Amino acid sequence: MNVLVTGGTGYIGSHTCIQLIEAGFNPVLLDNLYNSKKAVLERIKRVTGVEPLFIQADVRDKNALINALQANNIEAVIHFAGLKAVGESVEKPLEYYDNNVHGTLVLADAMREAGVTRLIFSSSATVYGDPASVPITESFPTSATNPYGRSKLIVEECLTDFQTANPDWSITLLRYFNPVGSHPSGSLGEDPQGIPNNLMPYVAQVAVGRRECVSVFGDDYPTPDGTGVRDYIHVMDLADGHIAALKHAGSKPGLHVYNLGTGNGYSVLDMIDAFAKASGKPIPYQFVTRRPGDIAECWADPSKAQRELHWQATRNLEEMTRDAWRWQSSNPQGYPED
Ligand code: NAD
Ligand code: UD1
Repeated sequence: MNVLVTGGTGYIGSHTCIQLIEAGFNPVLLDNLYNSKKAVLERIKRVTGVEPLFIQADVRDKNALINALQANNIEAVIHFAGLKAVGESVEKPLEYYDNNVHGTLVLADAMREAGVTRLIFSSSATVYGDPASVPITESFPTSATNPYGRSKLIVEECLTDFQTANPDWSITLLRYFNPVGSHPSGSLGEDPQGIPNNLMPYVAQVAVGRRECVSVFGDDYPTPDGTGVRDYIHVMDLADGHIAALKHAGSKPGLHVYNLGTGNGYSVLDMIDAFAKASGKPIPYQFVTRRPGDIAECWADPSKAQRELHWQATRNLEEMTRDAWRWQSSNPQGYPED
């Protein structure tokens, strides 16, 4: 089956392409390279032996999408393309709504014209806002606290309405918890531009000597060690979740919503400690004030995906940090420039 993967050269998209190829699918990647590099394609080939077809285009370009869908006999789309930095979204809300919301609407419209009716969308646990309790199930109320989160929520609502109006479509909303780690070969990984916003890439850059010290945002949360607790999930498990969604939900008309998480919570200090062990490097850290908008704890109840998609995360914290370190230590500056 030919699958269009928007945002396919990005962090989660590239790992998902590997698992698609390994599972016998034929991914066609589409990306505008705003936040990724073409070098990813060669790395995918290094790992799988297959260099996937790549189309450099923007998801807001409807003609390019219709061409991509028709010329390649696409049967399903996995839509990763978008902007994802929470802080930046507060500064540039229009860019976020344009890329994430408008981009998805153009994609759905192009799919309708091309007669492709199976869509998997990258959503986020951010749509649960500050949850009243943990673990979080898919039926928890949703809310948004920043433009990035609101863009995900708006897209979820638009796609829900669209699926109601088009009951033969299969639309799957996958709510990711905190993806970390990399392909176990160390050939692919997370390559943030500039100062990493997220914990794990920051810790990895400290371990490799690119940065001096991790700032731990808050030590007074109501958690066992006072630092924030999250559901970190290995990116390869997340990638496998897309294959499972494609196989089990993607063939059924309807609107399907799943949490993709492990169901375990780890604190910031747990992560620093695990990374120090995996890398054999000291990870200096200092406590600083809380980051505005952060919540104390967030982890998934992943049982719906387990039940319906026959998927569950299998890689533990040691594998997450080991693989992240393999990528970071063998590619200290990330991917080479194109
Ligand atoms: P990423 O930035 O590595 O990948 C996104 C890709 O989309 C990039 O390659 C970028 O160049 C491309 N892109 C952006 N705007 C585009 C456009 N208009 N047209 C074509 N391509 C465009 O991010 P990622 O971590 O791989 O995230 C993938 C998706 O998962 C995003 O939608 C993100 O919001 C969502 N998500 C990510 C996380 C996370 O922690 N990484 C968590 C929850 C949800
Ligand atoms: C963040 C986003 C979320 C997005 C997710 C994945 C915010 C408020 N939320 O989630 O919307 O879906 O990334 O991209 O930005 N931390 C430190 N020091 C650091 C970085 C982080 O202590 O330098 C702490 C945070 O306070 C948090 C934990 O580490 O407790 C994880 O942070 P991060 O990796 O940024 O993910 P989230 O905040 O969970």
